[in-house]
Amino acid sequence: MEGNMNLKLKIWRQKSASDKGAMKDYQLGGVSPDMSFLEMIDVLNDKLIREGDDPVTFDHDCREGICGMCSMFINGEAHGPNRGVTTCQLHMRSFNDGDTIYIEPWRAAGFPVIKDLMVDRGAFDRIQQAGGFISVNTSGRTLDANAIPVPKEDADKAFSAATCIGCGACAATCPNGSAMLFVSAKVSQFALLPQGHPERKERVLNMVKQMDEEGFGNCSNIGACEVQCPKNISLENIARMNREYLMANVKPEN
Ligand code: SF4
Ligand code: FES
Repeated sequence: MEGNMNLKLKIWRQKSASDKGAMKDYQLGGVSPDMSFLEMIDVLNDKLIREGDDPVTFDHDCREGICGMCSMFINGEAHGPNRGVTTCQLHMRSFNDGDTIYIEPWRAAGFPVIKDLMVDRGAFDRIQQAGGFISVNTSGRTLDANAIPVPKEDADKAFSAATCIGCGACAATCPNGSAMLFVSAKVSQFALLPQGHPERKERVLNMVKQMDEEGFGNCSNIGACEVQCPKNISLENIARMNREYLMANVKPEN
């Protein structure tokens, strides 16, 4: 890969959760437009290690848009300037030679910084554990999922909701630090399918309760989450979750 871009990087460096942190400047040459954004940081880290400096800590795993780990703000936008992609799917050809690029961690009360660009997204795991599942009888007499008819429109909507990768861009982007887009996607993927119905009330009540306990803010319909979501999760899911929540709170008459 031939490198021909020179960049000025301004990167958030923070030694630990208790450290105050600050932006630090780096000059990086030899960057190919074909590199992914994470490969560009790999090159920087190689250089820092060779120079005896501390490499930049950042989260990543699959590097193909599946795991939701590569959380960072790039020039003030979650996952960078392109829509519908994660940071690992962003390429340096989206930038110009000589650009200054600002790189920061997610900033939300529910995502404390661990080090540099890495934040603790354990809050999302705890919300999932509170209800983001279905219980299945595995006694050997389990009904084949394909034997339960599902209207095509519902199946498509459930599938779209299930594409949420739990990256946290929605909550980090929201001025209220709200995690409603994430939680609503997880509630919706089950609310739309018959398999999700037996536990639908407890699911929405428990997941919303956990979301509130984790310090995420309320939704005020700004819509920034939908714009920045790398999986194009629709705000329609928030409306569905609100309906599910309302219905779960209606007590049946005796
Ligand atoms: S709704 Fe979108 S932005 Fe939020 S966690 Fe899921 S994939 Fe990420
Ligand atoms: S590293 Fe897995 S989605 Fe980017």
